[in-house]
Amino acid sequence: MAVNPVFAFFKVTLKEEIHKDRLPHHMAIIMDGNGRWAKQRGMIRAFGHEKGTKAVREVVEGAAELGIEYLTLYAFSTENWNRPKLEVKTLMKLLVSSLKKEIATLQENNIRLSMIGNLDALPSQAKKELLEVMDKTKNNNRMTLTLALSYGSREEITKALKDISLKVKNNIISPENIDDSVIIEHLYTQNLPDVDLLIRTSGEQRISNFLLWQIAYAELYFTEVLWPDFTKDHLYKAILNYQQRERRFGKTSEQIN
Ligand code: IPE
Ligand code: IPE
Ligand code: MG
Repeated sequence: MAVNPVFAFFKVTLKEEIHKDRLPHHMAIIMDGNGRWAKQRGMIRAFGHEKGTKAVREVVEGAAELGIEYLTLYAFSTENWNRPKLEVKTLMKLLVSSLKKEIATLQENNIRLSMIGNLDALPSQAKKELLEVMDKTKNNNRMTLTLALSYGSREEITKALKDISLKVKNNIISPENIDDSVIIEHLYTQNLPDVDLLIRTSGEQRISNFLLWQIAYAELYFTEVLWPDFTKDHLYKAILNYQQRERRFGKTSEQIN
C-alpha cells in the first residue's frame, strides 16, 4: 500500500520521540552475537567481527548525534583471551585497522577516545595505535567513547584493592576513610560516571564480568538482535524503553514524583 505523502511527512521518527532532557549520561553496551551472526550465514566467525565494526560506527555516531556524553563499549574481555588463538589475533588486527580508519570520524565528530582494561596485555601494535588515537582526541569534548579492552571487572576490583591496601600500608590512606569515592578513584572508570543504561545484544541475559561496581543502579536492556545487525533505530528503541522507566534508587515512587 502506498503511503500518503501527507502522513509520511508527519510521521514521527523514533529519534524524534526521544526526550533530549532525559538521556542516559552514560550508556554501556555488551556487543554480543558476532559469531552467531556469521554462523547463520555459513561464514567464519571473523566475518561477524568485521561486520560488527560497522555497528560500532552506527552506534557511536547515533549516540553522539543524540547528545549522549559517555558511551562505553565492551570489545574484549579478560576471558576472551581463552578463545582460539586465530580468533584473538583477528580481533586484535581488527582493532588496529578500525582505529586507523576511524580516527578521522572521531575528530570530525569531536569524540574523545579512552580505554578501560589492561592496556599492557594488548599486543604492542594495538597498544601503540590506541595510545596514539587517545592522545590525538584528548581535547575533544562532545562525547567520551570508552573501549573496554582486555577488561574484566573482577580484575579491576582486585587491582583497586591492591592499590588501596598499598596506600594504607604506606599511611597514605587510613582504613576509616575508605568509602565509595576512594574505591571509585581506584577503578579504571575513575573518570566516568555510573552507568545509567546497559544494553546487551544477542539474547544473552548476563553481565559477563562487565562493570560490576558501575552498574549497581543501571537500567538493563536486553535485545535478541545480534550485534552486526544493530542499527541506530535499535539504539533509539533502547533509549525510549529506558525513558519509560522510573528510577527510584531505593526511594518510593511518591518520593520521586
Ligand atoms: C561478541 O561476539 C564479540 C566478542 C566477544 C569479542 P561473539 O564473538 O561473542 O559472538 P557469539 O556470542 O559467539 O555469537
Ligand atoms: C562478552 O561477550 C564480552 C564482549 C562482548 C567483549 P562474550 O561472548 O565473551 O560473553 P560470554 O562468555 O558468552 O558470557
Ligand atoms: Mg558472545
